[in-house]
Amino acid sequence: MSAPRYLGLDLGTSSLKALVVDAAGRTLGTGSAPYPIVRPASDRAEQDPEAWWRAAAVATRAALAAAGRGPVAAIGLTGQMHGTVLLGDDDRPLAPAVIWMDRRAAAEVADLTEEVGRERLVELAGSPLAVGFQAATIRWLTRHRPDLWAATRTVLLPKDWLRFRLTGEIATDPSDASGTLLLDVRRRDWAPKLLAAAGADRGVLPPVRPSGAWAGRLRPEAAKALGLAAATPVVVGAGDAPAAALGAGIVDAGTLLLTLSTGAQVLVPAPEVRIDGRGRLHTFCAALDPGPASPGWYQMGAVMTAGAALRWLGREVFWLDGDDADRRLVALAAAAPAGARGLLFLPYLAGERTPHMAPEARGVFLGLTAAHGRPELARAVVEGVTFACADAFAALAEAGATPSEIVVAGGGARSGLWQGIVADVFGLPVRPLAEADQTALGAALLAAAADARTAPADLARAWSAGTRGEALSPDPSRRAAYEELLPIFRGAFAKLRDDFAALARFASARG
Ligand code: XUL
Repeated sequence: MSAPRYLGLDLGTSSLKALVVDAAGRTLGTGSAPYPIVRPASDRAEQDPEAWWRAAAVATRAALAAAGRGPVAAIGLTGQMHGTVLLGDDDRPLAPAVIWMDRRAAAEVADLTEEVGRERLVELAGSPLAVGFQAATIRWLTRHRPDLWAATRTVLLPKDWLRFRLTGEIATDPSDASGTLLLDVRRRDWAPKLLAAAGADRGVLPPVRPSGAWAGRLRPEAAKALGLAAATPVVVGAGDAPAAALGAGIVDAGTLLLTLSTGAQVLVPAPEVRIDGRGRLHTFCAALDPGPASPGWYQMGAVMTAGAALRWLGREVFWLDGDDADRRLVALAAAAPAGARGLLFLPYLAGERTPHMAPEARGVFLGLTAAHGRPELARAVVEGVTFACADAFAALAEAGATPSEIVVAGGGARSGLWQGIVADVFGLPVRPLAEADQTALGAALLAAAADARTAPADLARAWSAGTRGEALSPDPSRRAAYEELLPIFRGAFAKLRDDFAALARFASARG
């Protein structure tokens, strides 16, 4: 019999990534396929579930081809959190998915928060409500699209829709479900009070099952589309942030995970529910069942715009095209000194969550002069995203996190320049990882753990042992430059907050 291999699928915001690994978590093959974010209005962000499905087939076939011959023993899923897929009576999507970047539901966030009570909401759900979260989107639908809501039979998160397409089984897991803000984060089940506030019946939501539980087998037509064997078992899976933590082996406090993806997250595992009373952080369920060596929650700061800011600068400003646009942008950034000759970038292109919880926030270049060129603009964008991550980390540190080093994951982790900027801005050593795609790896790990009947936390420790490279230490002179700039970056948000709101009102009135 051949050695078992596992497939992890990550339904990301920009692309679907497929990863085939062996039983030790070593990469055998990868594939990815992109899809667009559709923006019918400036406050909307939608995606077509059929585009996810086509990308899943392309990415999986590419990963299988790269991995060479050998059957896949089990499949694990992960994906972008918070979003909303509506299914009608025929089990087909009724409308495009509303994804986590969508900001249409600002009024619903305010109303729901007031009705439940801000403190009660954070205490129950572990986190304040933000635009793009399912609870807010559902409430928006009941108010603005009652026709669509009346036709809705099932509401799914993105990766749960993909599993439904793969297996025909409807389920979700506590880690992704907690990101809807409809879950009681302690009981790890839907909270009747929150369902009522959003306007959802329990019946439209999937049952909540452990991330590592089996959730059906590949249907013959799905197997054919992906190039896999029919009846391959599939695990429930997890949201992308907790899956990245598993894949990176972050299962014990002490190490901070910074994921630099389309957005960015800073995350530390938590053995019990710890609530940030100031409502800046998310306390969500981990992909692990709570146990003595298996922390069941994590605390996270979420930054809305990370890689998306680089992509925006590359495409919309520099007109860079092609697969190597990000790489060329990072090369430009490397040509400017730390601090970009006094140019700051506030990366709030999609509003901000941690620490500001301000969907109205907007992007800013601050300090432009005629002497600034492309290298400074590029450097300012990479640094501005990193400053926003440091701001989110400061909230985590105030809540008690005292990590001694940072593990960087996500697409941004592939850039040595960005890793160095993280070390210098945070003032902590950065440890690169050997495997590039921790999120898909976390999904594959859940499949491998279920197949081998191992506890996922133990497997995460085993898979990550030895994969961490030499730590990159902060450089004192660049660190000093960033220490000077960070207070200016922070002060700018406070000064501009009212202007952001006025511009958002202007844009929504004039289209
Ligand atoms: C977490 C978050 C991201 C999204 C998209 O709160 O917003 O992890 O899931 O990556």
